[in-house]
Amino acid sequence: SLRINTSGETTSIPETMHGVFYEDINDAADGGLYAEKVRNRSFEYDEVDNPSYTPMTAWEPTSTGGASGTTEVLDDSERLNENNRRYLRLELNGDGRRDSAYGVTNAGYHSGMALKRGEKYDFSIWARSDQPGGTPLSVTATDGSGSPVGRTMRLQVRGDEWTEYTGTFAAHSDTDTGGLRVLAHGSGTVRMDMVSLFPRETFKGEPNGLRKDLASKIEALDPGFLRFPGGCLVNTGSHESYQAPDWERRRSYQWKDTVGPVEQRPTNANFWGYNQSYGLGFYEYFRFAENIGAMPLPVVPALVTGCGEDKATHDPQLLQRHIQDTLDLIQFANGSVDTEWGAKRAAMGHPEPFSLTHLAVGNEENLPEDFYEHFEKFRDAIEQRYPGITVVANSGPDDSGATFDRAWELAREQNAEMVDEHYYNNPQWFLENTERYDSYDRSGPKVSLTEFASEGNRFENALAEAAYMTGLERNADVVRMSSYAPLLAHEDSPQWTPDMIWFDNDESWGSTSYEAQKLFANNVGDEVVPSELARSDEKNGVKPVYQVVTRDDRTGELIVKVVNARDDAARVRLNIEGADEVAPAAELTTLHGDPDAVNTKGSQPIRPEHSTVQGVSQQFEHTFPAHSISFMRIKTP
Ligand code: AHR
Repeated sequence: SLRINTSGETTSIPETMHGVFYEDINDAADGGLYAEKVRNRSFEYDEVDNPSYTPMTAWEPTSTGGASGTTEVLDDSERLNENNRRYLRLELNGDGRRDSAYGVTNAGYHSGMALKRGEKYDFSIWARSDQPGGTPLSVTATDGSGSPVGRTMRLQVRGDEWTEYTGTFAAHSDTDTGGLRVLAHGSGTVRMDMVSLFPRETFKGEPNGLRKDLASKIEALDPGFLRFPGGCLVNTGSHESYQAPDWERRRSYQWKDTVGPVEQRPTNANFWGYNQSYGLGFYEYFRFAENIGAMPLPVVPALVTGCGEDKATHDPQLLQRHIQDTLDLIQFANGSVDTEWGAKRAAMGHPEPFSLTHLAVGNEENLPEDFYEHFEKFRDAIEQRYPGITVVANSGPDDSGATFDRAWELAREQNAEMVDEHYYNNPQWFLENTERYDSYDRSGPKVSLTEFASEGNRFENALAEAAYMTGLERNADVVRMSSYAPLLAHEDSPQWTPDMIWFDNDESWGSTSYEAQKLFANNVGDEVVPSELARSDEKNGVKPVYQVVTRDDRTGELIVKVVNARDDAARVRLNIEGADEVAPAAELTTLHGDPDAVNTKGSQPIRPEHSTVQGVSQQFEHTFPAHSISFMRIKTP
């Protein structure tokens, strides 16, 4: 039987209990959440990002009506600006006829641009022309065979100064393999940069915005926090200067690179083997967090690498600069418009502060002594200037062992408020370790578990994770944040599996783990109510059921969460003690099915089912099916 003591001592659950960890991995940003359709829009792709890249990656010279010309990507004094160094120069040998033009076609990401009939698209380009009368441009979105899917936009480039030109069209047919053709008429020299195509409809209508289906799926997780932008993405690479031209292209992620007008942001190699445009940058992440009601949790590099590059950079000046950058980040988020970085935020369209309260220094560093030497300096500087900010430390990449123990020891010595733990393990491990946090020191640093997943994308994985999450919630006094990782993956380029939300160029679908995460986050409750299972005999390390009970203070409901990971149904007697009254009907939401089931693009067998349980009372029996995750909302008026 399951004893629920409604008058027992409760533990309050933080709003941050279940959140999301977003990293630009698996093409999560460019070609993913960031709605830009043009790949390599600023011709900055480079073999330093990926050996297969050239500055013309995704671009093809194109001509019509017998026109000829040459294309060349240059980095010279004619560039758009010091950060956006390369541009495309077209030398035109055309005769000026309307049907004769020379230029380039962009192939978009992966199999091509997905364009939808009836939807509007906004085109923009920075360009200049050396022709006294200017140069006409014809810009056309096409399907895979080169046929137009919308009207051709005609723009006139005037003058030899970089200027932004814009146009709009509505697609009149669908394509999944589209491209964008940008052709110039006449003769002479035309320079182009920042060639961009956005759907008009982005998430919440934000300019420079996010793909609606993906952002909505993340919003549906009702995340308590949004950790960004990584992961290994953050703490690897050189930690040198931001400044072109002497930067090393493979440098660590530095937030200042990612804010301001998009055409003034540099691009960078991404740890995961591709280029990152930084079109989706810190301002956009803060806005996204705000738009989905999640607490922003940025991560900054700690100058100790980890992620397979175990080395630390102890240059005091460099360290000081990164600490100052972190202080500036807090000012960017929270400072008034009269401060330097608050003014930059306001200039981007957000004079109100973003209410940053938590910030993580570093990610998975494997060198605790080096990391905590730096952490202390970051934390002390932040505490002195911004005493209200919680600075999250971390325990390295492993969930146990000497490095992990040493990291925790140092975290305690330094009175760190919170330590970030990460682990990826097999489903059995999760089933066997649901009591991990029962024995954690209640007076020490709190835990943020911002990366966990069981290895696999089958329903058995969701079951194991759900079982584990009952343990996380039971320990809500210690575990203050938790999130599955990674969040997003393009089906054509996963660098890491499993992942929670999968997508192609225009569709997306949640894994079985996504469905489980969503139910937990949407049924979290405000406090943990003591509950106890009479039988806990394990079979192959698996308990009869895993449970946690919480209370929703707003509705007064008890939320009974039960995970049955076994092959047999579990008949459970529920004893609700201390409640004068119990409503006879309870809402039940269940995920259940074949443990081998996988949610794919074409078929999502694991979806929530809703029903009403009748006959609920202070003592009643309920059968939890084999391989099921159940959320029962019992009213105790
Ligand atoms: O989530 C994928 C990677 O796993 C993250 O980048 C890193 O922090 C962890 O090792």
